[in-house]
Amino acid sequence: MAGVVVTSRLPGNAVERLREVHEVRYRDDDAPVPPAELPVLLAGAEAVVVTLGHRVDTAFLDAAGPSLKVVANVAVGYDNVDVEACRSRGVLVTNTPGVLTDATADIAFALVLMVTRRLAEAEREVRGGAPWEFGLFHLLGTSVQGKAIGILGPGAIGLATARRARAFGMTVLLSGRSRPSADVVGELEAEVVGFEELLERSDVVSVHVPLSPATRHLVDAGALARMRPSAFLVNTARGPVVDEAALVAALEAGRLAGAGLDVFEDEPRVHPGLLGRDDVVLLPHIGSATVETRTAMADLAVDNVLAVLDGGVPLTPVG
Ligand code: GLV
Repeated sequence: MAGVVVTSRLPGNAVERLREVHEVRYRDDDAPVPPAELPVLLAGAEAVVVTLGHRVDTAFLDAAGPSLKVVANVAVGYDNVDVEACRSRGVLVTNTPGVLTDATADIAFALVLMVTRRLAEAEREVRGGAPWEFGLFHLLGTSVQGKAIGILGPGAIGLATARRARAFGMTVLLSGRSRPSADVVGELEAEVVGFEELLERSDVVSVHVPLSPATRHLVDAGALARMRPSAFLVNTARGPVVDEAALVAALEAGRLAGAGLDVFEDEPRVHPGLLGRDDVVLLPHIGSATVETRTAMADLAVDNVLAVLDGGVPLTPVG
């Protein structure tokens, strides 16, 4: 029986599935493990299941020791894991692609509607109890029909967001490292364009690139300056892809119409310049937060652990 450490609570019967075959150390807590507790928790582990709140770095790997075979991240993004440090120690890393595509695309398009139709602001108005009545000029937003959405990062989630946008009558621009197939481009009647052209032509720019040294602050002051003053920015990928201070400056100067953000540069801290603005919608990183999706993510992470500890190959390895 191998030792599996689960560093935080998992939904569904993921932990029971592990327990059927392995000895499991289960930390029934959602908060990241305090560094001082790492050695006791991880010592001798052969597999560790982690969530985004945990940094898997050299200290983490040292605490687990040479027995560690696999780190299963319960997320599609894995910028919390030092993949190189894992690789150099022969530790496999896995993530949970695919199962969260629709849930995250739903939130991306929900943010598009929320920010263009001023839904959070409208809801706050009703909840605030101030008198209101129907009026032709009350809380006018912007229609998405006939507008262009620019998908920055046309991977699975970006393309699923594009499909939703098409269903709402938007045209689609795609830009990024992953090159969608001609079939998908045809299905979406999309145009594949360069980064700068996407910024300049989009009414909504939706960010879907993974965080890496190459994409950190990809949307910086210069990129924001290329966007139309009537355009909206949506980010459901990773906060540091957008320079938050530059975003606040652009909004304050009226150089951007609004932003819908599910992720932040320094989570859970939110730039104070965003908090008081009505042209900004702020969600607490809930892209994949449905019971069904989170259960499927936990199950996929467990499938990866079971496969590796059984001597096989992981289903969804990283890199
Ligand atoms: C969530 O942000 C994920 O990467 O799955």
